[in-house]
Amino acid sequence: MLQDRYGRQFPYLRLSITDVCNFRCNYCLPNGYEGDAHAAFLRADEIRRLVTAFAELGMWKIRLTGGEPSVRKDLPELIRTVANVPGIRRVAMTTNGYKLKQQVSSWRAAGLDSLNISVDSLDPRAFAAITGHDKLQEILAGIEQALTLDFSAIKLNAVLLRGINDQQLDRFLDWLRTRPVSMRFIELMQTGDNAQFFDRHHVPGSELVLALHQRGWQELPRTRDGGPAREFVHPDYQGQIGLIAPYSKDFCDSCNRLRVTALGDLRLCLFGDAGTSLRDLLQHDEQRLQLKTRIESQLQLKKISHFLHDGNTGATPHLASCGG
Ligand code: 5AD
Ligand code: SF4
Repeated sequence: MLQDRYGRQFPYLRLSITDVCNFRCNYCLPNGYEGDAHAAFLRADEIRRLVTAFAELGMWKIRLTGGEPSVRKDLPELIRTVANVPGIRRVAMTTNGYKLKQQVSSWRAAGLDSLNISVDSLDPRAFAAITGHDKLQEILAGIEQALTLDFSAIKLNAVLLRGINDQQLDRFLDWLRTRPVSMRFIELMQTGDNAQFFDRHHVPGSELVLALHQRGWQELPRTRDGGPAREFVHPDYQGQIGLIAPYSKDFCDSCNRLRVTALGDLRLCLFGDAGTSLRDLLQHDEQRLQLKTRIESQLQLKKISHFLHDGNTGATPHLASCGG
């Protein structure tokens, strides 16, 4: 298994397949996608070689991210490619849900095991204000459909936003009462582009913890390979709550993931400096040994923590650039 200098192991790869996104979330791409929509993002054969090398290094979970992965027309083929690599036990994807209703069955049929859907508010007006798309009802219908497809996990993501959705916890809880969904609340992270927004809207995760305790939710013990979320449960609810609080002490101790951008750069940390390109080694099957050697030697450079507390956001202008 891949291991860094601090003894952390990396079973989990977040692989971006496009930078392009059709939403304009106010904390991420407030002006919409402004990059090169026709950039040459990783092809299926490159992805197969990449994932094969990582799987031989002990990785077994791959998450497809973006941008918005479903803007790729070949998404079902990419899911199938990853799912067919020997050693890959779980294929997950994060989506904004825009095409969920039309496409979720084809994703499942291609081998997708679990799904994270961004739903920052269950109030249609707030949802439209955050994302720039009045699509909440359609996305919720897509989620109901996903719930019938026997996924191993369905999670909803919401970024905590002061003055926008920080008073909406009870609405989320009501929704979770009867649905076996894990809701992940994510503390807003500062990126290169959102400094002012961050100052206005950041909510510390501790506020959510307090509100959950007041409502009788109990925190589960951390598991060793559980990743950085803190999990909460309540006997009256089918759903579960996770908190991802990157500003909390020791957040990085449980880091279990690496990232690869849609152009094939290895990113050791969401907020690290620019990544090393792997793409030149994704062109032929015979390059696999070299590829594995490069990945292993790069991993030795992974730092113990991010430097967000110092306002240092590394090379990340917004999370659409590297898959969150
Ligand atoms: N802070 C926290 N979460 C973010 N996401 C995107 N940008 C940010 C940010 N600055 C979230 C999205 C999605 C996930 C991939 O990352 O809402 O749920
Ligand atoms: Fe798109 Fe996700 Fe960024 Fe929203 S947060 S703009 S859905 S990449």
